[in-house]
Amino acid sequence: MTEPNNSGSGKMWGGRFSEKTAASVEAFTASIHYDSRLYRYDIAGSKAHAAMLADHGILTREELAVITDGLSAIEKEIEQGTFVFRRELEDIHMNIEKSLVERIGPAGAKLHSARSRNDQVALDFKLYLRDQCDETIALLDGIRKAFVMLARKYLGHVMPGYTHLQRAQPVQIAHHMLAYYEMFGRDLDRMVDCRKRLNLSPLGCAAMAGTGLPIDREQVARALGFAGVTANSMDTSGDRDFAIEFTSNCTMIQLHLSRLSEELVLWSTQEFDFVNISDKFCTGSSIMPQKKNPDIPELIRGKSGRVVGSLMTLITLVKGLPLTYNRDLQEDKEPVFDAVDTVTASLAIMTELLENLAFKIERMAAATMKGCMTATDLADYLVLKNVPFREAHGIVGRAVAYCLEKGCELPDLTLKELGQFSEVIAKDVYEVLSVEGSVNSRISTGGTGLQRVEEALVAAEQQLGIAQ
Ligand code: ARG
Repeated sequence: MTEPNNSGSGKMWGGRFSEKTAASVEAFTASIHYDSRLYRYDIAGSKAHAAMLADHGILTREELAVITDGLSAIEKEIEQGTFVFRRELEDIHMNIEKSLVERIGPAGAKLHSARSRNDQVALDFKLYLRDQCDETIALLDGIRKAFVMLARKYLGHVMPGYTHLQRAQPVQIAHHMLAYYEMFGRDLDRMVDCRKRLNLSPLGCAAMAGTGLPIDREQVARALGFAGVTANSMDTSGDRDFAIEFTSNCTMIQLHLSRLSEELVLWSTQEFDFVNISDKFCTGSSIMPQKKNPDIPELIRGKSGRVVGSLMTLITLVKGLPLTYNRDLQEDKEPVFDAVDTVTASLAIMTELLENLAFKIERMAAATMKGCMTATDLADYLVLKNVPFREAHGIVGRAVAYCLEKGCELPDLTLKELGQFSEVIAKDVYEVLSVEGSVNSRISTGGTGLQRVEEALVAAEQQLGIAQ
């Protein structure tokens, strides 16, 4: 078998070198311990590239056949765990190529025609992230279904809505759930959008200037399911916007999960006591036998730091880079992989937790009865009786102060007591002071009134294809 003689350093790029690469340098520059994750995409890219080279006379049909078979054999070995990755071969691209050459000889050495590792790594990374967009989209779909199921289950039940974490106005539990449905819907849209933008093939940009060999970039792009090819070879070989955008989207998802986690942690305290997180999703204390801890939301909240960190790493990585490829870019993969692992695991487990979540509806309803939560409704009532809002606000403020002093709630006040604050207050005031009256009056678009929430719920169910 004839192997190309890459003298000097013994590397595939070693022709112009006369000394062997230092072991410390091999260790420092290697990325195979993490970029091996891209093997499937590297092989798919190479197969499409080879097929195109054969169509354009750069490879013979026979060479294409042995290359394709060789790549399939390598893929199988990697999947079975029998492939030996070699650190001295640096990365996944050269590990696979070298192994191919060792298996099939000179035909393998032709594969890298009209290609550089610069466009190859961009290709692999884009193919990988395209799959990750799809995976994340499916997980977002799943968590949104969980919120819609909870909204349907608890439709008609109320809870306190908070601002500044102080009781503010009563709302539907379903409205709170559908708030998360919206948030994760924006995340989903962002992933769909990110996928669209990254779905252009970089292959054929070669090192950075394109190639003089007769290639067909569009053909390779079509074969790999891309919507087209990138427009500028220099932009392409140094572009990692797609990775930053993806990780930024991951960050937003993890932030949303973290906010939800914070609520679950609060709600599961004895102080709130709004939810029961299933035992399956909690752990105990090694010393305090009575404890049941909400570890899953806590860990998800804690993991947001990792994802934010990954985004910061990527942003900082590209900040000072001149066009085009710079070796710095090899540092792009670990933060992205970590963001992928963190976000996919967090989304999946949070969805499971939500599917097993029980709200304590009596406790939540009782909580709406304390804290003068219908004060805004009283102000609105006065506005409808022609009192200017600022004046109404003052009147109600004084009534609330009176309640606080007396240790009662607004609906507990007699008509006579209420009359001290404004003469326009009549018997019909008690309708607006009730929690139910308050919630159901909020029928402005996007409000928590039962009618609006039901509409939003039906729309969500339709969007998700959940028949009722
Ligand atoms: N391992 C490299 C990376 O991940 C592959 C590209 C190397 N290109 C180069 N010209 N050294 O970025």
